[in-house]
Amino acid sequence: MTTPKLGVCYYPEHWPEAQWAHDARQMRELGLSWVRIGEFAWSRMEARPGSLTWDWLDRAINVLGNAGLQVVLGTPTATPPRWIIDKYPDMLAIAIDGSVRKFGSRRHYCFSHLGYRKECARIVDLMGERYGSNPHVKAWQIDNEYGCHDTILSYGASAEAAFRIWLERKYQDITALNTAWGNVFWSMDYNSFAQIQLPNQTVTEANPAHVMDYRRFASDEVVTFNKIQVEALRLHTDVPLIHNYMGRITEFDHFAVGADLEIASWDSYPLGFLEDRSDQGEDFKHDFMRQGDPDFQAFHHDLYRAVGRGKWWVMEQQPGPVNWAPYNPKPLAGMVRLWTWEAIAHGADVVSYFRWRQAPFAQEQMHSGLQRPDGGPADCHNDIFKTAMEIKKLGPVQTKQADVALVFDYASAWAWDTQPQSQDFNYFRLVYEAYSGLRRLGLSVDILPADTENFRTRKLVLIPGLFTWNDKLKTAVDNFKGQVVMGPRTGSKTEDFQIPKNMPPNIDGFDAKVKSVETLRPTAPIDITSGGHIYIWREHLETSCDVIEVGGDGAPVHIRDDNLHYLAGWPDREAMARILSNIANAAGLDTEDLPTGYRRRDLGRYTLHMNYGASALKLKSFTLESADIAIIDNETHKRLI
Ligand code: GAL
Repeated sequence: MTTPKLGVCYYPEHWPEAQWAHDARQMRELGLSWVRIGEFAWSRMEARPGSLTWDWLDRAINVLGNAGLQVVLGTPTATPPRWIIDKYPDMLAIAIDGSVRKFGSRRHYCFSHLGYRKECARIVDLMGERYGSNPHVKAWQIDNEYGCHDTILSYGASAEAAFRIWLERKYQDITALNTAWGNVFWSMDYNSFAQIQLPNQTVTEANPAHVMDYRRFASDEVVTFNKIQVEALRLHTDVPLIHNYMGRITEFDHFAVGADLEIASWDSYPLGFLEDRSDQGEDFKHDFMRQGDPDFQAFHHDLYRAVGRGKWWVMEQQPGPVNWAPYNPKPLAGMVRLWTWEAIAHGADVVSYFRWRQAPFAQEQMHSGLQRPDGGPADCHNDIFKTAMEIKKLGPVQTKQADVALVFDYASAWAWDTQPQSQDFNYFRLVYEAYSGLRRLGLSVDILPADTENFRTRKLVLIPGLFTWNDKLKTAVDNFKGQVVMGPRTGSKTEDFQIPKNMPPNIDGFDAKVKSVETLRPTAPIDITSGGHIYIWREHLETSCDVIEVGGDGAPVHIRDDNLHYLAGWPDREAMARILSNIANAAGLDTEDLPTGYRRRDLGRYTLHMNYGASALKLKSFTLESADIAIIDNETHKRLI
């Protein structure tokens, strides 16, 4: 158990060298102890092929390190410089419509391009050689935000060649592939792997099994790309290697990338995400425009804690208005502190703000930092100073295993992107609404990958929307004594993207079959007799299990056999709250309907209370102001913060 630390992202190459020492001193004075640098600086490290300029970076690391900051050094591979494109014009990613994604911003590369991979291995090896044993470099960040700006899938020649090899390795012979994909349908049989193309620009939808394999392949390419850099760095250093993931990016398997890294981190932009990638309605967005969705950060904290196997950071924390969402409001005073504490309460070892000083030039000049472009303090300054003092006061923060767990599976996201069956069906949304429902009941949640073998001492596990069962997860369910909630859509396909012979949900000994599925217009949800609705997705079952709740259409909504529960549809907010609360109570957990915007996180000895709401909340023993937090010692009942 260590005391959490604060940090910041800094771009020495953006500022006159004479300013570096002053900046470093001010960072320390603010209470920061980590600084991330370098991740976009390739054109300043190597302006022309082979002409390497390290002296500025040597000095920057020295200045920062000598001021007492620990450095995270980024590999610059998210920003291939212009000369690399001249060398390999075909390394640019190709969009689904066949258009080339041009140079002029960032992430303009195809993960499968062998020439670009070689360039990455080379620059990372050179950086490792130079800085691998630098005493100030205490961690490395590999690349930057895989998948941001829609950059995992590329439809060019390098990806196609690599996909054919990937398929041949998987299926060995073409008949096996034809059978697995069901290519007899529409005369899609192939005679050789060399005939297979990427599944874009087909006349109507491509075969879902074809798309699914392409999505698996594309995810594997990210793992390989990352591993090349891990291997290059490992020759030179033993310090932790990190990647900074993003919010709501599901195009690659983060667990698989994370398995090669020591720490997972993510970039948390609560207000940007609410405007840019949330399913919430207009009223909600209005009410939380300056605070963010009270569950969105927590969900990702829990997800990336799992990806990092317990070791995780926030690499970039929003400090004020960003520049990239449709609307970019300013956070309420106090929110930057609340977001920071929330991350810490979910186990973050470091929370690092993006960025030190607002840049007066280029794409992000409207993105705030901890300082204004002229070096004056930005609005969040006091929030951060206060947080740093509080962290010092509280010391090490313990977290504990949650009683409730939720399975999150990237392959399920690819499957249901491929075959949504309703334009409103989205796997992330389904899992997220369950998570949010649990949090509103006052429960703390752990997220688990789908290859979990053992649910341990947890009391309640949710597995919504799982594409297909694997043996480990089946074993975990079989051996678990707590309550398990499955559905809708759980276990509804085989690995080959076919309907299982036994019919979904395909669980041995659980007597229920999904006879048919329908999806619902937003204007036509189905009432549930005990309250709330089924919306988006509705299943009709053949079952001998106990029917706990039924819909106004007369068909079961919630069925149960012993400790196994199945939901035959997507419950709306009201139904989700009731159903989950009843099952949680059956699992021996106390639940409560928390007031709007109020959230709690159980840390064992302490509890963190947060008010995401815009007005003060009267709780049992204290009042929690808007945008404020309280840390209560559960033994002494004292408010520590
Ligand atoms: C992140 C990215 C940063 C910066 C930031 C702006 O997605 O990693 O480099 O662009 O967004 O909010």
